[in-house]
Amino acid sequence: MRELTAQTITDAVIEQMSTTADPRLKEIMESAVRHLHTFAREVNLTPAEWLKAIEFLTKVGQMCTPARQEFILLSDTLGLSALVNIMHDKTKLEAATGASLLGPFFREKAPTLEQGAQIAREASDGEIALFGRITTVAGEPLAGAHITVWQTAADGLYDIQKDAETMDCRGVFRSDHEGRYLIRTVRPLGYYIPLDGPVGGMVLAQQRHGMRPAHIHFLISAPGYRELVTALYIAGDPHLEDDVVFGASGDLVAEIKEADPAAPVKGLPSIQFDFSLSREREADRLGGRVGADPGRVTADTGKPLAPYGERPPAAAVEPRRGLLGTLFRGR
Ligand code: BEZ
Ligand code: FE
Repeated sequence: MRELTAQTITDAVIEQMSTTADPRLKEIMESAVRHLHTFAREVNLTPAEWLKAIEFLTKVGQMCTPARQEFILLSDTLGLSALVNIMHDKTKLEAATGASLLGPFFREKAPTLEQGAQIAREASDGEIALFGRITTVAGEPLAGAHITVWQTAADGLYDIQKDAETMDCRGVFRSDHEGRYLIRTVRPLGYYIPLDGPVGGMVLAQQRHGMRPAHIHFLISAPGYRELVTALYIAGDPHLEDDVVFGASGDLVAEIKEADPAAPVKGLPSIQFDFSLSREREADRLGGRVGADPGRVTADTGKPLAPYGERPPAAAVEPRRGLLGTLFRGR
């Protein structure tokens, strides 16, 4: 009988999996095994460390509810979501507006609102207007495009973090016959990603700040055009360069102007931004989005949906030491 070594085991696994019928599944799994084995050899992974990783991943799964997707958050904080998004964005047919992360707070079934409606329930402070056009890459207007918009409320939390039933600070708009849109909202704030779970434990053990720069999410679609998942990042935010999930990019930075003569609502600070969409290829419909309504990917676990993403206690940001800096313990 053959003796497996730390080197030959990789080919042995790949040989056993070679009967996989689906060619793409075969390609992905072979590569995953090669890279996993190379990684384990490179860091000389010990049994105790391997078990810590299993414990950590178990906690990530246990943290998921229909309102919370801790695996997406893990992917986001490791830059994997941004990498997949960047690679996918490069495949579009035309040089349209760039994509950004959908994130874990997108929800299907946001309310449909009239042009100019306010999406925030509480808008007494910091009201702003968003306006511009939805066009083709040639600048032709796209009438009737669907524009889904969502962001944090004035307290820096998404509705779903407070109450899984209520919708706030989100809505679906349609562009008019000239492709124009107009949305009222509140000034978005930079915020901590949810740090009260295992992924937060990892981020804090790495002594990262855990912040996203202030932004507003958009999902824009029109028949015959590739769906655009993107976000506008507010100029001047201190975390544009070190977004904890690597979603911010220079082409999506927008300025809030205090009194723009072009703004359709006088007296309100505003952002003007035109979005262009690329024509769609058949394959675009299969490409999917980097993210989803958590209710779509997580079955109802029966676990409470709140609290979700409360600020970490000060002690949590103390440096941790010991086996993997206790990265995978206590959260
Ligand atoms: C967001 O922008 O909503 C987001 C993206 C990734 C992780 C956490 C939040
Ligand atoms: Fe966000």
